[in-house]
Order: sequence, then C-alpha cells, then structure tokens
Amino acid sequence: MTIYLNGEFMPIAEAKISVLDRGFIFGDGVYEVIPVYSRRAFRLAEHLQRLQHSLDGIRLANPHSHGEWATIIGQLIAHGEAQDQYLYLHITRGAAKRDHAFPNPPVKPTVFMMSSPLPPPAALLQSGVSAVTAPDNRWLRCDIKAISLLPNVLLRQMAVDAGCTETILIRPGSNNERLFMTDGFMTEGAASNIFVVKDGKLLAPPKDNLMLPGITYDVILEIAAANNIPHEVRRIAVTEVFAADELLLTSSTKEVLAITQLDGKPVGSGKPGAMFARLNNLYQEYKQKVMRA
Ligand code: PDD
Repeated sequence: MTIYLNGEFMPIAEAKISVLDRGFIFGDGVYEVIPVYSRRAFRLAEHLQRLQHSLDGIRLANPHSHGEWATIIGQLIAHGEAQDQYLYLHITRGAAKRDHAFPNPPVKPTVFMMSSPLPPPAALLQSGVSAVTAPDNRWLRCDIKAISLLPNVLLRQMAVDAGCTETILIRPGSNNERLFMTDGFMTEGAASNIFVVKDGKLLAPPKDNLMLPGITYDVILEIAAANNIPHEVRRIAVTEVFAADELLLTSSTKEVLAITQLDGKPVGSGKPGAMFARLNNLYQEYKQKVMRA
C-alpha cells in the first residue's frame, strides 16, 4: 500500500513520524474521510471546505491550497488498486518538545494520507443494522473533525460489545447524565449522522457545535428538498428517537443505511422502511449522475 507523508509517496512500511508528533502526544490534529467512486473524489470541494473549518477550529494554518490538495489526492487515488476507495487525510500540528501550548515559532505540520478500498455495503442495505443509545459525553466542539477521538472510540465500542453497528448519541438536556433518556436530545452517531423518520417526514438535527456537519448528511437533505420529500431540521428529543418509524445512518464510508433495531427492540417494522428505500435509490442515482458529469 502506497501512502502520502509530508510531500512524498512511499510504501506504508517505510512511513515514519516522530514520537514527539503532537498528533501522537496530544491528538492535536484534524482529519477527513473522502469517498472515491470510479477513481473520482466525491464532493471534494465540500470535504476540503470542512477540512478548512476544522483547521480554523484548532488554529492551524492549512499547509496546502485547494489546488495542491486536489493534485496530491489525484496522485494518491492513482496509486490505489480499487476503483472505489476512501481517502483518509490527516494533519497534525507537527513534532515539537512536549508542551500543551502551541510550538512557538510554529513547526511544520505533519500531513499524512492513505487510501483503502471502499467496502460494498450490499448485505447491510438489505438487512439494516442495529444500534444502541448512550449519553453523548464528548466536548462542545463536535463540529471539528478532530483526530482526538477517544470518546468516539469508547462510544462506538459500546455498540460492538452489544453486537451492534453504531451508537446513537443522546446529549443530556440537564447536568444529570442519568436523566438523558428522558430529557436528552439526539446529536449523531459515534461515527455517522442520524436521521429520524416519523409519519412520512424526515427529521434531521441541526448542524451546530454538537455534531459533525456530515457531507453525506448534506447530500441527503439536498435530495429530500429536490424530490419534495417532507423534511425538517430541528432538535430531536430522545423520546422521538424511540418513537421513530425509521432511523437512518449516513457516512462517507457507509452511505445510507437503515437502523432496524435500537437497544434490542425493533425500529418501526424492524425492516428497512419506505423512506430508506427511496433515499437510498435517490442517493445511488445522484452518485451515478455526479460521477458521469
Ligand atoms: N466518520 N459524525 C461523525 C462523528 C463521524 O465520524 C462521521 C464520519 C460522520 C459522517 O460524516 P460524513 O458523511 O461527512 O462522512 C458524522 C468518518 C467516515 C470516519 O471517521 O471514518
């Protein structure tokens, strides 16, 4: 596997970074995951814009212009074996003597990129996936795609431990985390965005500081608007999550999936529903159209 590190392409086994890298020491960095279809990066401009938002959020200068990113990304895609891939792009504040405060003067950021084959989600499209709920105990800047993912790691592992795919995060409405099941509201998944469907309407939580502004989330809302699918962006109470007719999960690597079981109980009919089928078809059509353009 060929990766990109600080201006060079090399086999992954030869890639080395300093143990003093602030990504390693502090998790001081940001990342992006970009899907690639037929060797073309999907929604590249939007991913690079979100990367800029994340960099601004941690006060790190963008090491590359949009054009430079596009060139490096094009070269990395060409090195990949599969037609459909996903790119992982990672920037840290660089290697410096250990000190929480930023290195002064600044040091060179570390830029790392790799590409992996995009797994086909075929079986999961038919069956749907199961999820658990947990209190969202992350920080208040979840809009930054930070590499310091320990809370997300622990939350997602809760799903895996329960034999499930994802953990739906409920932000406690009060200071008492134990009350999250009554006064909480839904933010997102540990590694995905979540939509609720009720009485034929698609409900999405607002893009604020408590969730990652998903690129796939945006595509879904655009598709809903373009096809007159009733939808509303607003805060979603935990009680609405449990009363949902359907729950949907979106991410760059999983696209759109139906969540058919929540905390061991069926969601709606317990099978992928009509809204899922419609949105997934429209999403696949949209993808084909964009890739042909
Ligand atoms: N994760 N929310 C969180 C916390 C995420 O980690 C992700 C994606 C999303 C969905 O965003 P998008 O549609 O832009 O992929 C929402 C990626 C895939 C990851 O960390 O691997």
